[in-house]
Amino acid sequence: MMMNRVSIPLEDRTKLSGALQGLLNPLQELVLQTKQAHWAVVGEEFQSFHLNMDELNAAYGLFVDSVAERMLALGFVPAGQVGDIAAKPVLSALPEGFVQKGPLMSAVADSIGAVAARVRAALAAVGGLDVVTDDLLTEMLQSMEKTLWMLAAQEVHA
Ligand SMILES: [Fe+2]
Repeated sequence: MMMNRVSIPLEDRTKLSGALQGLLNPLQELVLQTKQAHWAVVGEEFQSFHLNMDELNAAYGLFVDSVAERMLALGFVPAGQVGDIAAKPVLSALPEGFVQKGPLMSAVADSIGAVAARVRAALAAVGGLDVVTDDLLTEMLQSMEKTLWMLAAQEVHA
Protein backbone atom coordinates (compact mmCIF):
# COMPACT_ATOMS: atom_id res chain seq x y z
CA MET A 1 0.00 0.00 0.00
CA MET A 2 1.16 3.53 -0.76
CA MET A 3 2.59 5.66 2.04
CA ASN A 4 -0.10 7.90 3.53
CA ARG A 5 0.71 10.87 5.73
CA VAL A 6 -2.81 12.17 6.37
CA SER A 7 -3.31 12.38 10.12
CA ILE A 8 -6.46 10.22 10.22
CA PRO A 9 -6.24 6.65 11.56
CA LEU A 10 -6.31 3.92 8.91
CA GLU A 11 -9.54 2.55 10.33
CA ASP A 12 -11.27 5.89 9.79
CA ARG A 13 -9.68 6.42 6.38
CA THR A 14 -11.02 3.01 5.38
CA LYS A 15 -14.55 3.95 6.46
CA LEU A 16 -14.33 7.29 4.65
CA SER A 17 -13.03 5.68 1.49
CA GLY A 18 -15.85 3.14 1.54
CA ALA A 19 -18.43 5.89 1.88
CA LEU A 20 -16.84 7.88 -0.95
CA GLN A 21 -16.67 4.80 -3.20
CA GLY A 22 -20.37 4.28 -2.55
CA LEU A 23 -21.04 7.71 -4.04
CA LEU A 24 -18.57 7.60 -6.91
CA ASN A 25 -20.41 5.24 -9.26
CA PRO A 26 -23.87 6.77 -8.65
CA LEU A 27 -22.38 10.19 -9.43
CA GLN A 28 -20.91 8.73 -12.62
CA GLU A 29 -24.39 7.47 -13.49
CA LEU A 30 -25.68 11.02 -12.99
CA VAL A 31 -23.02 12.32 -15.37
CA LEU A 32 -24.25 9.88 -18.01
CA GLN A 33 -27.92 10.64 -17.38
CA THR A 34 -27.58 14.41 -17.52
CA LYS A 35 -25.77 14.16 -20.85
CA GLN A 36 -28.43 11.77 -22.17
CA ALA A 37 -31.09 14.28 -21.09
CA HIS A 38 -29.08 17.08 -22.77
CA TRP A 39 -29.34 15.11 -26.01
CA ALA A 40 -32.81 13.52 -25.81
CA VAL A 41 -35.01 16.48 -24.89
CA VAL A 42 -37.50 17.77 -27.46
CA GLY A 43 -40.26 20.34 -27.41
CA GLU A 44 -40.79 24.04 -26.93
CA GLU A 45 -38.54 24.19 -23.90
CA PHE A 46 -35.65 22.45 -25.64
CA GLN A 47 -33.07 25.21 -25.45
CA SER A 48 -33.13 26.07 -21.75
CA PHE A 49 -33.35 22.45 -20.64
CA HIS A 50 -30.62 21.38 -23.08
CA LEU A 51 -28.29 24.00 -21.58
CA ASN A 52 -29.34 23.29 -17.99
CA MET A 53 -28.56 19.58 -18.37
CA ASP A 54 -25.10 20.38 -19.71
CA GLU A 55 -24.43 22.61 -16.68
CA LEU A 56 -25.43 19.79 -14.35
CA ASN A 57 -23.32 17.35 -16.37
CA ALA A 58 -20.27 19.56 -15.87
CA ALA A 59 -20.98 20.01 -12.15
CA TYR A 60 -21.39 16.28 -11.55
CA GLY A 61 -18.25 15.56 -13.54
CA LEU A 62 -16.38 17.78 -11.08
CA PHE A 63 -18.03 15.98 -8.14
CA VAL A 64 -16.84 12.63 -9.52
CA ASP A 65 -13.28 13.88 -9.70
CA SER A 66 -13.42 15.46 -6.24
CA VAL A 67 -14.79 12.27 -4.65
CA ALA A 68 -12.21 10.08 -6.41
CA GLU A 69 -9.32 12.34 -5.51
CA ARG A 70 -10.39 12.53 -1.85
CA MET A 71 -10.25 8.73 -1.83
CA LEU A 72 -6.73 8.93 -3.22
CA ALA A 73 -5.70 11.51 -0.64
CA LEU A 74 -6.94 9.09 2.01
CA GLY A 75 -4.84 6.32 0.49
CA PHE A 76 -7.30 4.37 -1.63
CA VAL A 77 -7.71 3.91 -5.35
CA PRO A 78 -11.21 4.60 -6.70
CA ALA A 79 -13.04 2.00 -8.79
CA GLY A 80 -14.59 4.06 -11.54
CA GLN A 81 -14.60 1.92 -14.64
CA VAL A 82 -17.60 0.90 -16.75
CA GLY A 83 -17.74 -2.49 -15.07
CA ASP A 84 -17.83 -0.90 -11.62
CA ILE A 85 -20.77 1.27 -12.58
CA ALA A 86 -22.63 -1.50 -14.40
CA ALA A 87 -22.11 -4.02 -11.59
CA LYS A 88 -24.46 -2.17 -9.26
CA PRO A 89 -26.41 0.59 -10.96
CA VAL A 90 -28.58 2.57 -8.54
CA LEU A 91 -30.56 4.82 -10.88
CA SER A 92 -33.61 4.01 -12.96
CA ALA A 93 -32.91 4.41 -16.65
CA LEU A 94 -34.28 7.49 -18.38
CA PRO A 95 -37.05 6.99 -20.94
CA GLU A 96 -35.64 5.95 -24.31
CA GLY A 97 -35.63 7.97 -27.49
CA PHE A 98 -36.73 11.58 -27.82
CA VAL A 99 -38.51 12.75 -24.67
CA GLN A 100 -40.53 15.87 -23.83
CA LYS A 101 -38.99 18.09 -21.19
CA GLY A 102 -41.63 17.38 -18.52
CA PRO A 103 -41.19 13.62 -18.10
CA LEU A 104 -37.47 13.82 -18.80
CA MET A 105 -36.95 16.47 -16.11
CA SER A 106 -38.97 14.48 -13.60
CA ALA A 107 -36.86 11.40 -14.28
CA VAL A 108 -33.60 13.35 -13.94
CA ALA A 109 -34.87 14.97 -10.73
CA ASP A 110 -35.71 11.52 -9.33
CA SER A 111 -32.14 10.44 -10.09
CA ILE A 112 -30.58 13.53 -8.49
CA GLY A 113 -32.81 13.01 -5.47
CA ALA A 114 -31.69 9.39 -5.18
CA VAL A 115 -28.01 10.33 -5.27
CA ALA A 116 -28.53 13.26 -2.89
CA ALA A 117 -30.15 10.82 -0.44
CA ARG A 118 -27.01 8.68 -0.67
CA VAL A 119 -24.82 11.70 0.02
CA ARG A 120 -26.92 12.56 3.06
CA ALA A 121 -26.71 8.95 4.27
CA ALA A 122 -22.93 8.98 3.78
CA LEU A 123 -22.70 12.14 5.87
CA ALA A 124 -24.71 10.45 8.60
CA ALA A 125 -22.45 7.40 8.41
CA VAL A 126 -19.00 9.00 8.40
CA GLY A 127 -19.71 12.62 9.37
CA GLY A 128 -17.23 13.88 11.93
CA LEU A 129 -14.37 11.57 10.93
CA ASP A 130 -12.82 14.05 8.51
CA VAL A 131 -13.65 17.74 8.13
CA VAL A 132 -12.48 17.70 4.51
CA THR A 133 -14.84 14.88 3.54
CA ASP A 134 -17.61 16.52 5.57
CA ASP A 135 -17.06 19.71 3.60
CA LEU A 136 -16.99 17.95 0.23
CA LEU A 137 -20.15 15.98 0.91
CA THR A 138 -21.95 18.99 2.37
CA GLU A 139 -21.08 21.13 -0.63
CA MET A 140 -22.33 18.44 -3.02
CA LEU A 141 -25.53 18.03 -1.03
CA GLN A 142 -26.20 21.75 -0.96
CA SER A 143 -25.79 21.94 -4.72
CA MET A 144 -27.93 18.90 -5.47
CA GLU A 145 -30.76 19.92 -3.16
CA LYS A 146 -30.77 23.43 -4.65
CA THR A 147 -31.09 21.82 -8.07
CA LEU A 148 -33.96 19.66 -6.81
CA TRP A 149 -35.81 22.83 -5.82
CA MET A 150 -35.11 24.48 -9.18
CA LEU A 151 -36.32 21.45 -11.13
CA ALA A 152 -39.41 21.02 -8.93
CA ALA A 153 -40.26 24.71 -9.44
CA GLN A 154 -40.51 23.99 -13.17
CA GLU A 155 -42.96 21.14 -12.53
CA VAL A 156 -45.50 23.54 -10.99
CA HIS A 157 -48.11 24.77 -13.43
CA ALA A 158 -50.17 27.27 -11.49
FE1 LIG B 1 -23.72 19.28 -26.18
